[in-house]
Amino acid sequence: MKQMEKELVLEIGAPRPRRLRSNPLLRRMVRETQVRREDLILPLFVCPGSGVRREISSMPGNFQLSVDQLVEECRQVAGLGIPGIILFGLPPHKDAVGSSGYDPQGIVPQALRALKEAQLELVLIADVCLCEYTDHGHCGVLQGEEVANDPTVELLGREALVYAQAGADIIAPSDMMDGRVGYIRRVLDTQGFSHLPIMAYAAKFASGFYGPFREAAESTPQFGDRKGYQMDPANAREALREIELDLREGADMIMVKPALAYLDIIRAARERYQVPVAAYNVSGEFSMVKAAAQLGWIDEVRVRDEILLAIKRAGADLILTYFAKDVARALP
Ligand code: PBG
Repeated sequence: MKQMEKELVLEIGAPRPRRLRSNPLLRRMVRETQVRREDLILPLFVCPGSGVRREISSMPGNFQLSVDQLVEECRQVAGLGIPGIILFGLPPHKDAVGSSGYDPQGIVPQALRALKEAQLELVLIADVCLCEYTDHGHCGVLQGEEVANDPTVELLGREALVYAQAGADIIAPSDMMDGRVGYIRRVLDTQGFSHLPIMAYAAKFASGFYGPFREAAESTPQFGDRKGYQMDPANAREALREIELDLREGADMIMVKPALAYLDIIRAARERYQVPVAAYNVSGEFSMVKAAAQLGWIDEVRVRDEILLAIKRAGADLILTYFAKDVARALP
């Protein structure tokens, strides 16, 4: 016995964390983080016409859908237990001031009315921005080559109201203009929609990860970039200031976007603020996984689940993700 002790590599009583990893059931018992169906929000793209279901080439499994197809898709989504969708519109016409974005007969209001009529068990989130509706592809109206803040905010207020009137359950401004949350809040409150929550894209970075979305939403800027309104990826303190301002202006939930390269921001937001934190697992994050998986370089399901888990572990309550349906299907 004495002799054996000498041969011990670890000391008696040494910590052995592997004990809790020794079988699947034990691992399940001590698992700290889980992705649930209830955490997921699926982004969807609605386009004119009927019977249209056009796959977005850089985002396999995602489609531009006409209103009728969108309703069918949403029926499926609700059936999978996913609680919410966020809607983006592809209008038939674009102009310099994005007027199809705040047209009560526009594509998103049409979709919202049809979805309301279908009475699905689904929270309908309306993304509020002008980039899908302007012919130059910027998120607001231009003064020279600059996006003019205050005139844009006024139009965003109109857009938000039109979506509220068409049946949106949550308004989600994604433009990054200064003061838009406060303005939209005032518009909603004075027009009979004081009950409607605002999910603010509070810390939205000027990111290369939006590439595939711009194909999906046909919203690539025709010149320049969005760095004059979206945030510099280098800035974490500024992200907290943006969040602070949106909360002070009346945001009910905040969002960090993109997610994967900004887990530190998600964590900081979680620690500092008491409101629900959403994270947008954006198009580029989705497409990278799909593409590498198609090449056989990574295991799609493992990597997908690991990424979504990381976003939750960082502190997100909700995840907007193009993987929502796949994940909901895979959950027990
Ligand atoms: C609109 C908007 C964008 C995304 C969501 N809302 C694009 C952009 O800002 O260029 C990107 C979402 C994604 O990449 O999945 N302003």
